[in-house]
Amino acid sequence: MAAGKGTRLKSKLPKVLHEVGGKPMLAHVIAAAAKIVPPEDIYAIIGHQAMQVREAVAKTGIRFVLQEDQRGTGHALMVAREALAGYDTVIVLSGDAPLITAQTIEGLRAFHNSQKAVMTILSARMENPTGYGRIVRDKNNGANVKAIVEEKSATPAERKLREINSGFYAFDANSLFRNIDQLTTKNPHSEYYLTDMASVFTGAKKRVVALQTGDASEILGSNTRAELADIDLLMRRSKIQKLMADGVTVFYPATCVVDNDVEIGADTVIEPFVQILGNTRIGSDCRIRSYSVIRDSEIGDGVLIRQGCILHGAKVERLAVLGPYSHLRPGSEIGESAHVGNFVETKKVRLGKESKANHLSYLGDAQIGDRVNIGAGTITCNYDGEKKNTTTINDGVFVGSHATLVAPLTIHEDSYIAAGSCITRDVPQDSLAIGRARQIIKEGWAKEKRAKKTKSAQDPS
Ligand code: UD1
Ligand code: CA
Repeated sequence: MAAGKGTRLKSKLPKVLHEVGGKPMLAHVIAAAAKIVPPEDIYAIIGHQAMQVREAVAKTGIRFVLQEDQRGTGHALMVAREALAGYDTVIVLSGDAPLITAQTIEGLRAFHNSQKAVMTILSARMENPTGYGRIVRDKNNGANVKAIVEEKSATPAERKLREINSGFYAFDANSLFRNIDQLTTKNPHSEYYLTDMASVFTGAKKRVVALQTGDASEILGSNTRAELADIDLLMRRSKIQKLMADGVTVFYPATCVVDNDVEIGADTVIEPFVQILGNTRIGSDCRIRSYSVIRDSEIGDGVLIRQGCILHGAKVERLAVLGPYSHLRPGSEIGESAHVGNFVETKKVRLGKESKANHLSYLGDAQIGDRVNIGAGTITCNYDGEKKNTTTINDGVFVGSHATLVAPLTIHEDSYIAAGSCITRDVPQDSLAIGRARQIIKEGWAKEKRAKKTKSAQDPS
């Protein structure tokens, strides 16, 4: 179920697209389900900003059911009746409860099948059950469930019940769809509550049971920004714990933000206040120093990333050294043992093996070979106001400081560019290119200037 608006979030973004652990809540729920059934057996019921929700998860290959007006969780299933007609069992998941695991869903399915019930509710005991529907078991607090009562309609005694409804259920599909029209909107929200199926079934003497999960935090739902933050924290904490268990050192882990899908190799050290986001893979034996933010990047083994680097869509090969304060933008490929230093910005660049760009440079749309030295302050002028042009710098080239390289341009093997040059024409192999005004010396010029100044001070007329 992913059609709701999420009124309590007060957001333009539909609720299920709010992110925890670096990806939309709905994507987490789909990922858990996809470990159990093929994607074509997963249906997302979408409605509020349906197109946007659909686009966000379309690549998972799941199917969609449109619930145009959102008239409650019961209504969501009424709308899905046709799509789900061919199935024996329907497992209902909530798109806003992203901590659910495949193991728990599998457990729910197995329990449901063993109980021969028409409806099995995944429940949990909560110290503070506020906001959740409560499970009312039949007399003697037995195995069977009588009803689920929503917070707003609960009596004071029912409110004290600590067993809550997770919003995850397994249904016998036939029984569900044959009886779902008995739901009514006689409740404070005037909605069709799926939870009322429990009393519909028990009224017809059909068996409803609840499976209490061991880990109540797994079923946390997020209706508010505060709950989103709680879930995000839980998810990231367990992610970092898992990385540590796999041999990664994380200092001061509470200050580090690591997204759920990140991979990091053993003996890599993460210093405080580092963010590693999106689809990032980091090798073994790396060191990521403080204040670096790395997104959707691939880092080889033994790479040192010094303080304050920003990487987005970059590939860094083994033993390279970055930073402090390097900015690698999409399409940056830093070769083995290469160095990128202070205040160097790269974009769509291949920097070859053992090449160095250590200080204050912009390198964009460039193919740079091996063992190249890029002097401090070098700029590739890649943009002519209309299109981007490529700079090619072949192996062994030495670019002196403060060179301005106007693309399109090729500097051939083992050439030198004199410091301060503006280079506009290709440079042949093994040559020196100088593109600047020749220096002139005026001997004694300063002395004469001072003499003139002293004379006019003595003789003000
Ligand atoms: C629901 C349950 C409550 C349970 C809680 C667990 C009902 C009536 N109540 O409450 O017992 O304790 O979940 O988190 O079901 N949705 C639709 N279409 C709609 C309405 C909602 O697809 O017309 C989707 C929402 O996008 C959401 C999910 O269903 O992903 C649950 O809806 P929500 O409004 O969050 O229900 P709760 O108030 O949390
Ligand atoms: Ca909810």
